Amino acid sequence: MTDHLRLGVNIDHVATVRNARGGDYPDPVRAAELAAQAGADGITAHLREDRRHITDDDIARLAQIEGVRLNLEMAATDEMLEIALRQLPQATCIVPEKRAEQTTEGGLDAAAGHNHLARFVREMSAAGMRVSLFIEPDPAQVEAAMRLGAPVVEFHTGSYANLEGEAQAEELRRIADAAALAAKNGIEPHAGHGLTFDNVGPIAAILQLHELNIGHFLVGEAIFTGLEASVTRMRELMDLAR
Ligand code: PXP
Repeated sequence: MTDHLRLGVNIDHVATVRNARGGDYPDPVRAAELAAQAGADGITAHLREDRRHITDDDIARLAQIEGVRLNLEMAATDEMLEIALRQLPQATCIVPEKRAEQTTEGGLDAAAGHNHLARFVREMSAAGMRVSLFIEPDPAQVEAAMRLGAPVVEFHTGSYANLEGEAQAEELRRIADAAALAAKNGIEPHAGHGLTFDNVGPIAAILQLHELNIGHFLVGEAIFTGLEASVTRMRELMDLAR
């Protein structure tokens, strides 16, 4: 259990806005620096196979920001492994990736993918990165992460974010139980996807969680209030829930 729940700010959609015109602004590196000043404990960026938002050059520049921890979200492909080993972010999060999806749609199947994933966990861990697996809050997936020797798992909160009422409460219990199972077995649990000011509280109150990764909502809110204000408010809500 930890009192300080880290906030990783995902800046992918700053790049989405930039790429809409193909120029060089708004710059995700500037967003990363501002988010860190506003209380983010780290920056998360997903280098997708199709480079629809974050680019290779963004990752190279984000990896070099002094004092800002970078978590690289990546598919388990040889290309991404080679980039991670070259850029050496402090952390990586292995996610499933489908070309046609709007965003990451579900967790990895760490059980069925064991033989494929093992090399990624092993090689990136050996290079000093803290490797996380993005999984559903399902005991079978936590056990598969244990067999893979992953030091961290990130639970997909997308279903929780999309549900309401008793169904949402049930999904919250699944996340809390999975976080407890991971922590009991020495795996550091994180969570993320679809979190907003309105739904972050009950997730942040799960004391076993060490980190939340939040992006789309914060970047959207920044249009109205500025990025520093949106990150500051999220930080406050997370602290209030602990
Ligand atoms: N965690 C992971 C593994 C993700 O893939 C994403 C989306 O890129 C997030 C967290 C952040 O989700 P959102 O942008 O919905 O806050």
